[in-house]
Amino acid sequence: MARKLILDCDTGTDDAVAIMLAALHPELDLVAVTTVNGNVEVQYCTDNTLRVLDHIGRSEVPVHEGLRRPLVRPDFPVPRNAAVNPNSNIHGRELPLPPATSRKQGQGAVEFLVETYRSTTEEIALVPVGPLSNIAAAIAIEPRMVDAVPEVVIMGGGNVKGNATPSAEFNIWADPEAAAAVLAAGFRRITLVPLDATHQALVSREQCRALAALGTPAGEAAAALIDRRITGYDATQPMAVRESAPVHDALCVAYLVQREVLDVHRLHVDVETAGALTVGRTVIDAYFRGGKEPNCDVALGADAAVFGDFLLRTLAR
Ligand code: BDR
Ligand code: CA
Repeated sequence: MARKLILDCDTGTDDAVAIMLAALHPELDLVAVTTVNGNVEVQYCTDNTLRVLDHIGRSEVPVHEGLRRPLVRPDFPVPRNAAVNPNSNIHGRELPLPPATSRKQGQGAVEFLVETYRSTTEEIALVPVGPLSNIAAAIAIEPRMVDAVPEVVIMGGGNVKGNATPSAEFNIWADPEAAAAVLAAGFRRITLVPLDATHQALVSREQCRALAALGTPAGEAAAALIDRRITGYDATQPMAVRESAPVHDALCVAYLVQREVLDVHRLHVDVETAGALTVGRTVIDAYFRGGKEPNCDVALGADAAVFGDFLLRTLAR
């Protein structure tokens, strides 16, 4: 039986690939997509999500719009307009796909999450690949939600890498209090997929050509989106591996189906919510110095070949 999941996205280019994988893989059953303020303002994340689902013929998947602000802060630690934001090159505001004809649901994302996990008798994995605002709000309203979620797979954090700042990854930095609340909430199983893993599963221009050659709406769209990411990374990031880019969020979906795509370690992770230089940093106790019980499976590596193959096979549909 296909594994059910809810994707919580701030839909830019890599979220879009994650949505396509989740919507198209035969072993996955995408129950809904919830959106959150992140790569772009939430209304654009919602519109982008609808565009993706329409484009691949899955417009029946419900889309619930979520929070437009972080959980406790009025804005990101450095407000979007003032931030030097390499994301704008990598995502753009509107994805280059035809305008959506389908509409978002009337029910908001947080209410949807609370009600779904209150009532479900089935196992529905939760895969947040944006800032964790919706998830933290939902567990604040319904703390028992942690018992109803079999598994949480989060794209976020970094052990030796940052991207929003020198020390912090974007999703965690964008709402650090929410991330801290989610990690401390007591979910049965959390897998954290940080930059250390996603940067080991780079996708190249050559792989984009192979995706485009599939001739499917999903293959062609993914090729264009990843190509844009490669150009953005090459232009803005001096440490980039040229002519390739990570597709962070998509790796979380691959992990649901092919566990061997990630090299995971059971570790304790805290989130820095205070320091001016380090706000949003995931403090990953990789050498067991903190004396705290592990609270996450942390991916410190990824298998690029397994991931590349997963992309090609899934987006051929
Ligand atoms: C994360 O931040 C966003 O820009 C991407 O969509 C991804 O979820 C990577 O740091
Ligand atoms: Ca994302």
